[in-house]
Amino acid sequence: MKIRDIETPAILLDRKIMEENSRKMEEIICGTSMVLYPHYKSHKCLPIAQWQMAHGAGGITCAKLGEAEDLIEGGIPRVVIANQVVQPEKLSRLAKLAGRADLTVCADAEENILALEAACAANNTQLSVLIELEVGMNRCGAESFEEFYALALLTEEQPHLSFRGIQAYAGHLAHESDAKKRRETLLRIEKRVAELKRYLKERGLAVREICGGSTGTAADKPKDTVYTQLQAGSYLFMDTSYERLDLCFEHAMKIAATVISVKPDRIVTDCGVKSLTMDQFPPRYEAYPDAELSFSEEHTTILVRNAGAALGDTLFCIPGHCCTTNNCFGKIYLVDGDEVLAEWPVTSRGKAQ
Ligand SMILES: Cc1ncc(COP(=O)(O)O)c(C=O)c1O
Repeated sequence: MKIRDIETPAILLDRKIMEENSRKMEEIICGTSMVLYPHYKSHKCLPIAQWQMAHGAGGITCAKLGEAEDLIEGGIPRVVIANQVVQPEKLSRLAKLAGRADLTVCADAEENILALEAACAANNTQLSVLIELEVGMNRCGAESFEEFYALALLTEEQPHLSFRGIQAYAGHLAHESDAKKRRETLLRIEKRVAELKRYLKERGLAVREICGGSTGTAADKPKDTVYTQLQAGSYLFMDTSYERLDLCFEHAMKIAATVISVKPDRIVTDCGVKSLTMDQFPPRYEAYPDAELSFSEEHTTILVRNAGAALGDTLFCIPGHCCTTNNCFGKIYLVDGDEVLAEWPVTSRGKAQ
């Protein structure tokens, strides 16, 4: 099958560029203490997670319990849920899942740790827990070393839980385009996390893992970083929002769209906000990089005079945010040049629970 035979809108993933992006990420972490735990939220596609495991990943990070269930069902042996799981029904699912693989979850509250223990005790399973440290994003996480220690100790005291280490994700820096500010802030966070590790050690608590990181900050990490798991996701695909950072990764993911109307001052495609998300940065059509775009649910209007496009032409669009755009589609077409190599399901699409 050729690209021109694909019904649009559709996601295309260029195999060679994906492999090259993966190789570049390997190069970035080579010689550091970090192992890549790619973030599943960027694709939600089991065949890609399996491909990443076959290409050097130590395990897979995900955001949702439903994603973790799909990953473990698909044979991924080590899964980190980089979030808190709180609802009673979910705790029971989580505890059952812990019996099937090496599963880690985050926590930042005493009440949650006790609930995790009760769920695992009821299912007679063991679960690893990362205590989250707040590092400037103003989201989840313990806000002082004292609070962190109390939570880590409580975890360690539970018969069905083990304290695995620190989750410290600096999401506020991932898209910071001021490179100096990004690097300096990142180094301050590294220092604080290293201090926390020492603080815990002095009190008898060993930190086995320090997890976090993103596509935007991976190359900024010092070679002697204290982090042990890098949770980057977008590096494999790329999007327009990461272009501003001048990273080494190339665009492997594009959306194919068809021209459905041609007017003297505009052309219209079959691809709107139900296929291209706008939460971070606007998408860009390759053939019309400077054109003003307007979007409705199922259309892009490209404001160009005498565009030279004909009805039925295929146009290629770089997504604004690869992670949310992947969640719009049921499958990803793996391509090489003109050729379609495979159709991969977006296995965990819509798995928000
Ligand atoms: C916990 C966590 N880790 C890592 C990432 C980084 O992802 P990316 O590399 O796509 O920026 C995210 C992004 O949302 C995240 O929430």
